[in-house]
Amino acid sequence: MASDARLALLPGDGIGPEIGAAAVALLERLGGVEIVEHPIGGASIDAHGTALTDEVLDACREADAVLLCAVGGPKWDTTDPGAPRPEQGLLGLRKGMGLFANLRPVRPSDALLDASPLKRDRIEGTDLLVVRELTGGIYFGDSGRDGDRAHDDCAYTVEEVERIARVAFNAAATRPGADAGGAKVTSVDKANVLETSRLWRETVEAVAADEFGEIPLEHLLVDNAAMQLVSRPADFDVILTENLFGDILSDEAAMLTGSLGMLPSASLGGEGPGLFEPVHGSAPDVAGTGIANPLATFLSVAMMLRYGLERHADAGRVERAVDTVLEAGLRTPDLTGGDGVREVGTDEMTKAVLEAL
Ligand code: IPM
Ligand code: MG
Repeated sequence: MASDARLALLPGDGIGPEIGAAAVALLERLGGVEIVEHPIGGASIDAHGTALTDEVLDACREADAVLLCAVGGPKWDTTDPGAPRPEQGLLGLRKGMGLFANLRPVRPSDALLDASPLKRDRIEGTDLLVVRELTGGIYFGDSGRDGDRAHDDCAYTVEEVERIARVAFNAAATRPGADAGGAKVTSVDKANVLETSRLWRETVEAVAADEFGEIPLEHLLVDNAAMQLVSRPADFDVILTENLFGDILSDEAAMLTGSLGMLPSASLGGEGPGLFEPVHGSAPDVAGTGIANPLATFLSVAMMLRYGLERHADAGRVERAVDTVLEAGLRTPDLTGGDGVREVGTDEMTKAVLEAL
C-alpha cells in the first residue's frame, strides 16, 4: 500500500479551528492522509509574534498538500504599518510556495438556486471558473508611506502573465463542451486606463495566438465584468484576471452560489504542493457558536484530492456528498431558508456529509 500523503493543516483564526476539525473528521473517514497542524495568522502572531514562521513555511513546502482554513480577526486589526497582520501569513505562504495560480470554481448547487439573492433564472446554468493571478500585481508591489502620502505599486511582467494565461487556457481546454468551442476564456483587465492591463491584454492575446488558437478569447474591462457577472453569469466559462480584480470578482461570483460559505479554492504553482482553502474569511462574529458552514472547506478538500493528491474518485465522492445533504434540505444559517429545509450547525452538517459519502 502507498504511504499516507502528508497534509499540513493550518486552522488559523475565528471559525478556522472549527471547520478545520470538521475537515479532519472528513479526512479521517477518507483515509490515506497523515495530518500535522501548524499555527498561522493571528494564532501565530500570538504564539510567535509573526503571522508565518520560517518553520511553518518549510513544513508546508515539504508537505504533499496544505489545507488552510481562515486567518484574521478584530483582535489583530490595526492600521499601524509596523504591526504584524494575520493576512501576512497567507500572503507569505502564497509567495513563499510560488503559488501563482488561484482557481475558484463557481457552480451553484441545484438545491441552492433559491438561496442566492439573485433570481433563479439568472443563475441557472452558471458554471464558471475564476483563474486569479496570485503572486503579482498590487499585492506584492512596493508600498509605503511618506508623511501624508501612501502608495501601492502595481507591476506585472510578461512571464507572469504568460504562465497564468496558460493555466486559464488549459483549464478551458478540459472543460465540458470544450471540443465544440463551448468553453471560452474571458480575460478581465482595465486596459483603458492601466499600463499593466495593456501589457496583460497584449500578452494574453499572444499566448492565445501562439498556443491556444482553438479556444475562444474575449476581453472585458473590469467594471463591465462586475456588471455582466450578475446580469448574465451563465455566459461565463473561464475568467482570467490579475490579483486584485480576481479578489473582488470572486467574492461577487460567490454570491451566485447563495453564500460565500460555499466557495472552495486551489492555489497552485509550478512544482511543489498546492494550497487549498475556502474563499470565505474567519467570520469572527460567529466563531465559537457552532454554526460555521463547513461545506466550502469540504469542497476545498475535494479540490485537494483532485489537484493535489490525484484521488479523482474520492474528490467526486466528497462533492456528491455535499450535494446530497443540500438536496436533503440541511442548511447552516448562512444559507437562507426555503421550503422543507432544516437549519443545522457545523457538527450536524459534518455528520450528514460523512454519512452521505
Ligand atoms: C482571499 C482573501 C485574501 C486576499 C486576504 C485574506 C489577504 O480575501 O483569499 O480572497 O485578498 O487574497
Ligand atoms: Mg478575497
